[in-house]
Amino acid sequence: MRILVTGGAGYIGSHACVELLESGHEVIVIDNLSNSKEMSLSRVKEITGHDIKFYTLDLLDKVKLNQLFSDHSIDSVIHFAGLKSVAESIVNPLAYYRNNVSGSVNLFDVMTKHNVKNLVFSSSATVYGLTDSLPLKENCPLSAENPYGRTKIMIEEILRDLHDSDNAWNIISLRYFNPVGAHASGRIGEDPSGIPNNLLPYISQVAIGKLKQLTVYGNDYATHDGTCIRDYVHVVDLAKGHISAIEKLDSHPGLVIYNLGTGNGYSVMDMLGSFERANNIAIPYTIGPRRPGDIDASYTDPGLAMSELGWQANLGIEDFCRDAWRWQQDNPNGYE
Ligand code: NAD
Ligand code: UD1
Repeated sequence: MRILVTGGAGYIGSHACVELLESGHEVIVIDNLSNSKEMSLSRVKEITGHDIKFYTLDLLDKVKLNQLFSDHSIDSVIHFAGLKSVAESIVNPLAYYRNNVSGSVNLFDVMTKHNVKNLVFSSSATVYGLTDSLPLKENCPLSAENPYGRTKIMIEEILRDLHDSDNAWNIISLRYFNPVGAHASGRIGEDPSGIPNNLLPYISQVAIGKLKQLTVYGNDYATHDGTCIRDYVHVVDLAKGHISAIEKLDSHPGLVIYNLGTGNGYSVMDMLGSFERANNIAIPYTIGPRRPGDIDASYTDPGLAMSELGWQANLGIEDFCRDAWRWQQDNPNGYE
């Protein structure tokens, strides 16, 4: 199939491109490179030995987007493109609503016009908000604590209305838990700009000496060691989930939603200890105050993705830590 991947130069998108190409799909990527480098796609070509068509294109540029759909016959779209920083979304909410919501509406509009009605959308476990009903299932109530999370809920709602208006649409929203790790080749991985917000990139940068020490945000949570628990999922497993989703679209599923996580929760201290053991390296750390907006624990019940998509995560905590560190060591300055 010919798949259009929006945001395909980014962290999860580049890993999905590898899996798509290796599964025999043809890939067209559009990305405005606001949070990525074109080099990630050169590396994807190098890993797979397959070509990718790439266009520097912003989803807000509807004229160019329309032209792209006129120039190519597209079977399905995987929609990764979006801004993803919670902190930035609080400071600059309009940029998030404009980019994520308006950009998505443009995409869905142009898809409708060109009768392309197969879509996989990158949603997030953030749509479950500050809940304590664990493990999280797809039918748990939604709430968002910040503009970023609200953009994900809004886009999911837009997609529901779109499907209600025209059930020729096949839409799969994938709610990712915490993507981590990197491709086993060490050639593609997460390349955060500035100081990383997320745990494993932060630990990796302490390990390489770019940052002095990790601050553990709070050790008085109601968990086995007092630090927060999350459902970390390897980015390659996540990428494979998109292959399962693309294949599922063939069976005309209508609108469906799947949580993608392992179902296992690990604490901050579990991750730190595992990184140290897997890579034989000591990580200096200090205990700091809680980070506003963090919850004690978040992990999924992966049963629905397993039974309906035939997908389950295979890689575990040692793989997360080993692969994140290989990527960091081989690319100390990311794609620079
Ligand atoms: P990323 O920033 O690495 O990738 C997103 C890509 O989209 C970037 O390459 C960026 O340049 C591009 N982009 C942004 N706005 C665009 C626009 N208007 N037009 C064209 N391209 C645009 O992020 P990621 O981690 O790969 O995340 C991919 C998707 O998954 C995002 O929608 C994100 O919200 C979602 N998600 C990510 C996580 C995570 O922790 N990484 C968790 C849950 C959900
Ligand atoms: C964050 C985002 C969430 C996004 C998710 C996956 C916030 C509030 N939430 O969630 O919207 O979907 O990333 O990308 O930003 N930690 C430390 N020290 C650090 C960094 C993190 O102790 O320097 C802890 C955090 O308190 C948390 C855990 O590590 O308990 C994981 O943090 P992080 O990687 O940022 O993921 P989330 O908090 O789950």
